[in-house]
Amino acid sequence: MCGIICYVGDKQARSILLDGLKQLEYRGYDSSGFAVREGIHIDHCRAVGKIAELERKVSGLDIKGSIGIAHTRWATHGEPSEENAHPHTDQDENVFLIHNGIVENYLSIKKRLQKKGIVFRSETDTEILAQLVGQNFDGSLSEAVRKTMSQVEGTFGMAVIHRNVPDEIVVARRGSPLIIGVSDDGLFAASDVSAMVRYTKKVVHLQDNELATLTADGFSISTAQAKPIERDTETVEWRVEDSELNGFPHFMLKEIYEQPETIKNAIRGRLEPGEGVPKLGGIMPVWERLKACRHLVIVACGTSYYAGCVGRYVFEKLTEIDVEVELASEFRYRKLNFPPNTFILALSQSGETADTLAALREAKRKDASLLGFVNGVGSSISRETEAGIYNHAGPEIGVASTKIFTSQLTILTLLALLLGRHQNLSLTEGVEAIRALQELPDQIRTILAQDNHIQAIAEKYYKSSNWLFLGRKFNYPIAMEGALKLKEVSYIHAEGYAAGEMKHGPIALINPDMPTVAVVPKDDMYDKMISNIHEIKSRKGPVIAIATQGDDRISELVDELIEIPPTLDYLNPILSVVPCQLLAYHCASFLKRDIDKPRNLAKSVTVE
Ligand code: AGP
Repeated sequence: MCGIICYVGDKQARSILLDGLKQLEYRGYDSSGFAVREGIHIDHCRAVGKIAELERKVSGLDIKGSIGIAHTRWATHGEPSEENAHPHTDQDENVFLIHNGIVENYLSIKKRLQKKGIVFRSETDTEILAQLVGQNFDGSLSEAVRKTMSQVEGTFGMAVIHRNVPDEIVVARRGSPLIIGVSDDGLFAASDVSAMVRYTKKVVHLQDNELATLTADGFSISTAQAKPIERDTETVEWRVEDSELNGFPHFMLKEIYEQPETIKNAIRGRLEPGEGVPKLGGIMPVWERLKACRHLVIVACGTSYYAGCVGRYVFEKLTEIDVEVELASEFRYRKLNFPPNTFILALSQSGETADTLAALREAKRKDASLLGFVNGVGSSISRETEAGIYNHAGPEIGVASTKIFTSQLTILTLLALLLGRHQNLSLTEGVEAIRALQELPDQIRTILAQDNHIQAIAEKYYKSSNWLFLGRKFNYPIAMEGALKLKEVSYIHAEGYAAGEMKHGPIALINPDMPTVAVVPKDDMYDKMISNIHEIKSRKGPVIAIATQGDDRISELVDELIEIPPTLDYLNPILSVVPCQLLAYHCASFLKRDIDKPRNLAKSVTVE
């Protein structure tokens, strides 16, 4: 989705902005632009395509100035074009404005402004904001932005400069993240910490309906109602090297390989092995209520939703709690009626997914208790929930989520185990679970050691244009996640199914050209999965099995075998998903796809 980076300080803004835009590339975008000012002179440039194209357009130009705003655009209103790229200006070209989000009432405002004779130059909703700020300007940029905020409906993270206010950038937010970065060389504002982490780790999160004025000397925050806000800086834990490839060809592969470490980070300091109980400081603020919880609703999107689907089985195995998992984008349209002691748990890598946030807000309206498991420290979801657990997995740059999925499964298991131990789970079961959790990082290493074998399987099948993924119980969501990974990065059509459903329809598709990935570890679903594999083999469908090490029965039955080490049944998904991630990665690589930035996708989906 769109990205914002702004700078005001002692240094030249141009290179800081272009560098920041490159750090935002992973979010997905189709055009970009920036504006840099020196005195009343403002240089600006926009380009369609990669940041390299923007760089090409400005190479050789003498652009000077130590204040600037820059943007990557992911088209919503109007096709990707130079006219629709940001910054947008007002009629007199005094205002330069960049925006993430969607202005919902833009058409009525546009008509009203057109009646006043204002001519629009783009198809975007953003141009309305620039025109309104221009109309509302009466000497104070922050007041013009404040008034504009009161006139628009929808979401925005925006940054504005004005030709007649030489030293200021005004930023504002409603529903779309904006973070101020504080350094000795000046101030930054960005939609995403990664755009400024090279320059500073000290940040201040702007909250909804707040705006801030940034100058080289400092910043001030106020609400949309002009109430001043004092807020301390926080220190982010991300390191510069987290957003570098470190020898890997793609972030997706790097992040797949980081999983032994990210699982360690998810459990580090959170286990009491002797007691068989996790310690989860983040949920202590709601612990008394949570202990009494008998109904949990997990809301999430995409890969995070599939993590929630695994979580449901894990909670059912370890606790007495009823669990529902809902796609956040559908949750709001349900007739919500929660039993007492219901908790809503939002799962999200970014912590900024608009659908998940909207679901949380709806649940809050119905007085449910809110938990958030996110990777994005200080993100909107972490701030809008009462308590939660961080993944501490470092930034995930590849658009396809990999390391966060296994980290989510790990922390979901920790919560289930903690609650289970306060219910019926015995000390022996708790100790056994902790031992098995601690073994996971090394077990993932043994799967990664089969990477060449998995690559060879991908080479054999990547030309097949349809794939089926099957699993049951704990591994049914892995079938769905495996199919999603393959679709996202290779653009191969894939379906993830509960294996028992195959005979109710998908079996019609089976033929020698359609590979099936069967997730079939040794658990209580094993015999049924074997029957499904027989059904596919009788119809000459090739089968790639992900099975437990030493399973001789399956090795004779299937075309390809990828082995995972033995673990507890409810931890199998943390292992069985890794071959699916590698298969997707290698297929995409053979097909020469843009793996880290697949077409049409965005890393953080901040529009509903
Ligand atoms: C996964 O590979 C995705 N690109 C996507 O489905 C993602 O999981 C979804 O958009 C949810 O994002 P979140 O975890 O940041 O909320």
